[in-house]
Amino acid sequence: MMNKFLTLLFAFVTIAAFVSAYYPEDAPGDYQDITYYASFKPTTVEETVSITSYFSPDNSIQVETEAIENAKVSIDIGTPGFESWIGCTTKGEYPYDHDSEDYDDSSKDKEFGCTCDKQRNEETFPIFQALLNAVHRGVKVRILSNNGYTSNETFSYGYIDPISFLSLAGAEVRYFTTVTFLHSKYMMIDNSTASVSSINYSQTSFMNNREAGVLIAGSQTMTDFYYGVFQYDWDQSIEWPITDENYSSEDLEIIKDTSLLTVSIPSATSYPGSYVTKVTTTNEDMTVTALTSPDFSYEQIYADIEKSSSMKLYLYQITGDVWCDIVGNYTGSLEILVSNKIYDKSDFYLAEKCYKNLYENGATIRKTDKSSSAYVYSHQKIWILDDDTVYVSTGNWGPTDFPDGSSTFTPYKENPEKWRRVNRDFTIKMVNSDVASVYTTLFSEDYERGYDWYPSDTDN
Ligand SMILES: *[C@@H]1O[C@H](CO)[C@@H](O)[C@H](O)[C@H]1NC(C)=O
Ligand SMILES: *[C@@H]1O[C@H](CO)[C@@H](O)[C@H](O)[C@H]1NC(C)=O
Ligand SMILES: *[C@@H]1O[C@H](CO)[C@@H](O)[C@H](O)[C@H]1NC(C)=O
Ligand SMILES: *[C@@H]1O[C@H](CO)[C@@H](O)[C@H](O)[C@H]1NC(C)=O
Ligand SMILES: *[C@@H]1O[C@H](CO)[C@@H](O)[C@H](O)[C@H]1NC(C)=O
Repeated sequence: MMNKFLTLLFAFVTIAAFVSAYYPEDAPGDYQDITYYASFKPTTVEETVSITSYFSPDNSIQVETEAIENAKVSIDIGTPGFESWIGCTTKGEYPYDHDSEDYDDSSKDKEFGCTCDKQRNEETFPIFQALLNAVHRGVKVRILSNNGYTSNETFSYGYIDPISFLSLAGAEVRYFTTVTFLHSKYMMIDNSTASVSSINYSQTSFMNNREAGVLIAGSQTMTDFYYGVFQYDWDQSIEWPITDENYSSEDLEIIKDTSLLTVSIPSATSYPGSYVTKVTTTNEDMTVTALTSPDFSYEQIYADIEKSSSMKLYLYQITGDVWCDIVGNYTGSLEILVSNKIYDKSDFYLAEKCYKNLYENGATIRKTDKSSSAYVYSHQKIWILDDDTVYVSTGNWGPTDFPDGSSTFTPYKENPEKWRRVNRDFTIKMVNSDVASVYTTLFSEDYERGYDWYPSDTDN
């Protein structure tokens, strides 16, 4: 009898353990609630297109802020997050960092956000003021982001962050639900100039990382593509959770003050010895393809790689077996430059596993400069095929940003077993020798300053 009971109990525990090991946990901030069927096919034009290449830490803050300041009619923004540069998106007055030497334990009890007055008048992220001014001169501003608020992170009465401030001041702000996470860093100015980049709305991304972006203008087909994807996601999004009800009339007076603010664009951080990029505009005949993930980007890019005979990768990270195999099985001439640091711990271990495999297969893994005078992260996502075809992306080479397999994406809440953690991303592919030379030069300059990595190295 007892034996039978124990057997049953054992079976039960085994099954429970199996089930919980088998089903992945949902990703934090995942609001997808209906199945997504990929429908945006890569779209190609062959015509005169204007491509402006820009980079962090040299000129991205200037290019993006000025694009917003020059907007006359409309601004659409897609961004994973919207960080304050003065600590209004952290708990405590300064970034909440246990590892920091001057970590002050008393700051853990401080509020998330800043007072409305401080947010309006002291923020140093110039895109915040530029957007607020745009709203107040009558530009229609729409911002799509992720809802990253957790219950212990929402505001105490009177406290606010930049994105909620903009929302209450007259921008339309909504949060993403199409698939797991909005990972694209995207702008559309006056329905005619698009920006696609690796740049998060954070001080590190603009001022301390290597990052890459392009402004794309002069092509109605390109505009229609990016506009179409943004509008699709916008139509599925949900209203921002912070409302007027959460603030006093005194605070609302500060928030809704329509007087224009000074926009101060900081000068670039100096990294002695690094390669300093310039903003370069190429306005020529070229072949350009717009792609979005998770819609068929993997298939297109994989097919392009298979047809090419040389590949230069300048990526933040490579993770997962599928992408690691693509690189490992490549038979053409291959050069790899990846970030010496990775922010996310689990991504870091996945990337090291891939680099170890590649190394053991005979590849050289070059990592970006790790000297004390170097950038923080090399967060750009660039690859060059046959020295004439450049891809600039918001996505990394891995299963979330370029998923292979089925083009049907089931929400977690409908079926955890079928669910995949996937992101919305944008990629632009450009075939033009002048554009290519901007990126091959960047690649060789940054490559030269990097170092060969061996599996025995301990990085991060
Ligand atoms: C950029 O933002 C994404 C999304 O919020 C985050 O996952 C990633 O860690 C950030 N990366 C860097 C290097 O700042
Ligand atoms: C907030 O909650 C999350 C999830 O429950 C937890 O991991 C995190 O440590 C909490 N943060 C603070 C500052 O209490
Ligand atoms: C912007 O462009 C899209 C197509 O590219 C069009 O459907 C939309 O009406 C335009 N919006 C405005 C305000 O002109
Ligand atoms: C905002 O106000 C609403 C309605 O009073 C309330 O339900 C919600 O919890 C408040 N949110 C925050 C973040 O304080
Ligand atoms: C790469 O090679 C491995 C080992 O031969 C193989 O299992 C895998 O399918 C290949 N991957 C691709 C993407 O061709």
